[in-house]
Amino acid sequence: MIGRIYGTGSYVPNRIVDNNELSKYVDTNDTWIRERTGIARRHVIEEETTSFMAVQAAKKALLQSEVKPEEIDLILVATSSSETIFPCTACIVQSEIGAVHAVGYDINAACTGFVLAFQTAQAYIDARIYKTALVIGADSMTNLVDWTDRSTCILFGDGAGAVLLRAEEGKPCLMAAHSDGTKANALTGMSRHHKAVTSLEDKITYVHMDGQAVFKFAVRKVPEIIEELLADASLGVEEIDYFILHQANKRIIEAVAKRLRLDLTKFPMNLEEYANTSGASIPILLDEMKRNQRFQRGDKVVLAGFGAGLSWAACMFEW
Ligand code: COA
Repeated sequence: MIGRIYGTGSYVPNRIVDNNELSKYVDTNDTWIRERTGIARRHVIEEETTSFMAVQAAKKALLQSEVKPEEIDLILVATSSSETIFPCTACIVQSEIGAVHAVGYDINAACTGFVLAFQTAQAYIDARIYKTALVIGADSMTNLVDWTDRSTCILFGDGAGAVLLRAEEGKPCLMAAHSDGTKANALTGMSRHHKAVTSLEDKITYVHMDGQAVFKFAVRKVPEIIEELLADASLGVEEIDYFILHQANKRIIEAVAKRLRLDLTKFPMNLEEYANTSGASIPILLDEMKRNQRFQRGDKVVLAGFGAGLSWAACMFEW
């Protein structure tokens, strides 16, 4: 069984902060940010919350799929920046959309979260446990970054994306996933109200990152896991129509394409507009591509996420 994508939706805040505006807050400039990351601007929450954005994206996915809320069996929200630790964001979404028969929970795996949530939903569907699943990625990373740290605050934006999956007979989704907790310190984030009692307090209160270590990890592990995933199905990378990677940095995506010896046109990107929206980046891109009718039935699509944990995951399905 496969969970076919019946509908997609996304939401980004109206407030846009471009690189020039950022250069008023920290010592940076548009040229540096564009050259090192490919990012030009990011959408930043004002009154919005993570759950509000998740609900908006979910409502659009439902509308597009013509599925009734009460038909949903499962709601998964990939987030590491929910405004409440509990209840989980998925239960807030359930209540707001009236998915009275669904079970909901959040998956916290930072920027890898959406791919892991998508895999979880596909596994439930393939096991015939659930038929209809709503998978959401939603994050408010600008709430967690230190706006005085130019090495991290330039990288992130906010948003949410959702996909509505329905069970159909078909080739199951291929999946691979890994974590390496021994490298956890390369990328950490604590809630703004966290009171650390160590001398590292200032460093760990916000998102703290060893940028070069994360960059090297991503360009090595993402091609590796894609090859591992496809080898299991005896597929070559050239047979894939689209590689939808977590939108962290243009140079990471270019390096992955180069290592796989593939044309960059197979790697759609929208990070110039939204920056790194963590768990939301892949479903926002999926939604944009679907609305622009970029997918044909039968297209082979790879999703790949990577980030804090460290963790990385990939899956492949036919559209
Ligand atoms: N504007 C201007 N200069 C900046 C800057 C900024 N926003 N941030 C850092 N610099 C400076 C540094 O201080 C350093 O100056 P120095 O040479 O005088 O010491 C110089 O630019 C180079 O810094 P470095 O950290 O080596 O740059 P880099 O090429 O590694 O790029 C990142 C930094 C963060 C863009 C890059 O490492 C990266 O993208 N890493 C992956 C991050 C990521 O995607 N994380 C999320 C994964 S889910």
